[in-house]
Amino acid sequence: MAPPTAQHPSNGAARRHARARAPSRAAVLTAATADKYDLYQRSVQAPQSDVEFLLTVYRRIRRRKPHHLREDFCGTALLAATWVAQGPRFSADGFDLALEPLEWARTYNLVSLGSAVSRIALYQKDAREPAAQPADLRCAQNFSYQVFKARNELLDYFRSARASLAKNGLFVIDHYGGYDAVEERVEERVVDGSFTYVWDQQTYEPVTGHQKCAIHFRFDDRSELNEAFSYDWRYWSLPELRDLLFEAGFPRVDVYFEQFDEDGYGNGTFEKDAKGPIGASWIAYLVAVR
Ligand SMILES: C[S@@+](CC[C@H](N)C(=O)[O-])C[C@H]1O[C@@H](n2cnc3c(N)ncnc32)[C@H](O)[C@@H]1O
Repeated sequence: MAPPTAQHPSNGAARRHARARAPSRAAVLTAATADKYDLYQRSVQAPQSDVEFLLTVYRRIRRRKPHHLREDFCGTALLAATWVAQGPRFSADGFDLALEPLEWARTYNLVSLGSAVSRIALYQKDAREPAAQPADLRCAQNFSYQVFKARNELLDYFRSARASLAKNGLFVIDHYGGYDAVEERVEERVVDGSFTYVWDQQTYEPVTGHQKCAIHFRFDDRSELNEAFSYDWRYWSLPELRDLLFEAGFPRVDVYFEQFDEDGYGNGTFEKDAKGPIGASWIAYLVAVR
C-alpha cells in the first residue's frame, strides 16, 4: 500500500520548536567552543510557546489559572524556569535522573531568575517518584517518556503522574507521529545561522518498537559534536498512549495537533482534533484530565 500523501515536509522532531535563552554564545561556534546543552535548547525547545499552550489549555478546561508546574525529565529545566519567571504566584518542580543537566540548569537557567529561584526545586529523581506538592500541571516534553520500554513501566509512570496531580490537575505529554517517525532517517536544520542540528533516527525495530536516535551538531569549520545526545527508547503510537492514559485512570484525554503554515511547516499553534492528520510527520500534545 502506498503511504498517505504528505501534506507537509517530513521534518518531524527536528523542526520542533525554535529557540530559547542561551547562557553563552561564542562569536564563532565550533565543537571546541560550543556547549551541548545550549545548542540543545536553541534547537528543540521553545518554552514560551509551551507555557502559552499550557496556560490556554488549563484555562479552557478548568476556567482558572494554574500555578504549580511539575516538569518531568526536565533536563536543564528550561520550561520550569520559564514557568516561574511569569510571576510570584508561579512555582515549579523539575525531576531528572541525571546530575549533569540539573547542574547546568542551576548554573545557567536558574541563575537568571533572581529571587524567583526560591520558587523552583530540582530533584535528581526518577520521574515516577512522588512530589511534595501536587501539581496543577505536570508535563513530559520531547517524548522523554519513551525511555519506558515496557508497557507496565509506562503505565506505572502514568499512574504516578495522575496520583501526584492536584484535584483539578492536567497531565500533558507530547508525541511525534506520522510515518517518518518510524523510519531510519536523518534530518538537518541550520539554527540561528550558526550551527546545524542533526536529528538521526538510527534504528527502528517494528516488532518491539525499540528505536535508537541521536542528536549531532555540526559547525562551519567542519567540526562536529557527534552523538551529543543519544536515546535508546521505545516508540509509542498515539492510540497506545491514549489507551495507557485511560488505563492509568484518566477519564478524558484530548489531543491537540500542531497546525501547519502555508509552506507545510509546523507553526507552533495547536488545535484540538478528535481524528488527527494523515501525513509524514506531525507533533501533538496529549492532555490527560484528572
Ligand atoms: C530528551 S531529554 C528532555 C529534556 C527536556 N525536558 C526537553 O524537553 O527537551 C530526556 C531527559 O530525561 C532524563 N531521564 C531519563 N530517564 C529518566 C527517568 N526514569 N526519570 C527521570 N528522568 C529521566 C534524562 O536524564 C534526560 O535529561
